[in-house]
Amino acid sequence: MKTRFTALKGAPDVLPPETNLWGRIENAACEVFAAYGYDEIKTSIIEPAELFLRSIGASSDIVAKEMYSFTDKGGRSVSLRPEGTASVVRAYVEHNLSLRPAPQKFFYRGPMFRYERPQKGRQRQFYQIGAECFGTAHPGMDAELIVMLMAFLERAGLPALSLELNSIGCRNCRPAFKQRLREFFAPHLDGLCPDCQRRHEQNPLRILDCKVERCIAIRAGAPLISESLCAECREHFGALLGLLDAMKTPYTLNPHMVRGLDYYTRTVFEVTSGQLGAQNAVAAGGRYDLLVSEFGGPETPALGFAAGMERLSRLLSAAESLSMPRPEVFIASLGREAAAAALSTASALRARDKRVEVGWEGSLKSQLRRADKMGARYVVIIGEDELRSGSFKWKNLGTGESGETGAEEIFNLLS
Ligand code: HAM
Repeated sequence: MKTRFTALKGAPDVLPPETNLWGRIENAACEVFAAYGYDEIKTSIIEPAELFLRSIGASSDIVAKEMYSFTDKGGRSVSLRPEGTASVVRAYVEHNLSLRPAPQKFFYRGPMFRYERPQKGRQRQFYQIGAECFGTAHPGMDAELIVMLMAFLERAGLPALSLELNSIGCRNCRPAFKQRLREFFAPHLDGLCPDCQRRHEQNPLRILDCKVERCIAIRAGAPLISESLCAECREHFGALLGLLDAMKTPYTLNPHMVRGLDYYTRTVFEVTSGQLGAQNAVAAGGRYDLLVSEFGGPETPALGFAAGMERLSRLLSAAESLSMPRPEVFIASLGREAAAAALSTASALRARDKRVEVGWEGSLKSQLRRADKMGARYVVIIGEDELRSGSFKWKNLGTGESGETGAEEIFNLLS
């Protein structure tokens, strides 16, 4: 019996013409990131499971519920990466990249895996473009990274997005804030969802991020981290806001944003769109000044972001209707003798970067119909008569103009 396979749920194929749009977005990222000194890093898609446990955090939804983890044939516990930052930090430490002059800047692109409940804009395999910068705690670098992200989104064709910012403090001020949160939520424990009851002890910051209605209601009067920042964190955040003001980069302060990954310190941010429904974050990131040393590297402040390709692509394809690229020339080739001439003419045009299709088979009528369906600009006919005379018939399908030309002059037609 024959089996018709389908892609796994939440792991859809991306087809042309959408793949061409992805290419455009990636090109925009590469151009903008290069100007800011970011070079591409390619890390493995599969890593030791512990890498994510130790960075994203055991209490995060990603690690607690969403990891694609399994034991490999060598008995190692491994995971498909749910995000890129942990791997880039591992590579930074493993290859002693701290010995290169600071700051070290990297970007990456590729598939990530989270076993989430698939819905519009949320998949189990999704594609991120991200950037990470190591080696400076200066708020100028936070501003530079955010300005770069907004420049990339603008170059990709998405200028009107909202930027939300917060500072979630450092190892000096956060413990006291966590304690204040524990005290605030203690009398309401029974009313919180089971996840938040667990978070209350492990990481009460995460209660601020919960999407369950009753938790949202309870946290309405919770203390704000902005009121608990130490002087250094307050100064750092103030300087960042001042630089964004100077750059005329609009932002909104969101004192409730804590982000779903445990490694963040100080600056966190999200870029959202009003057109995406529930899954409205297009890109997100922040500082993680402790992670390099927690992975055994030297104390190295660092920061980064990642953007979700499917969401970018959805926004762009809503703004412009995508269509398949059209051949500039369709060569109708008639009869066995014509094949070689058709192939060499097509190759010569392709060498000049012209998009060319050869008809290969079927009657002239059926080949012309195909050329029309593909939206070809020109049709060139190569049959036995044309081979004998050395002169090819052509037609501009847009204007209806037609004529005959020698093989060599076809190039002039298109210039
Ligand atoms: P994140 O917020 O988990 O952060 O993901 C960043 C972006 O990836 C989201 O804003 C969204 O556009 C996209 N994304 C996440 N999950 C999904 C999903 N299931 N389906 C579709 N798109 C998704 C991080 O991953 C951090 N590593 C960002 C970072 C880099 N922070 C510092 N450096």
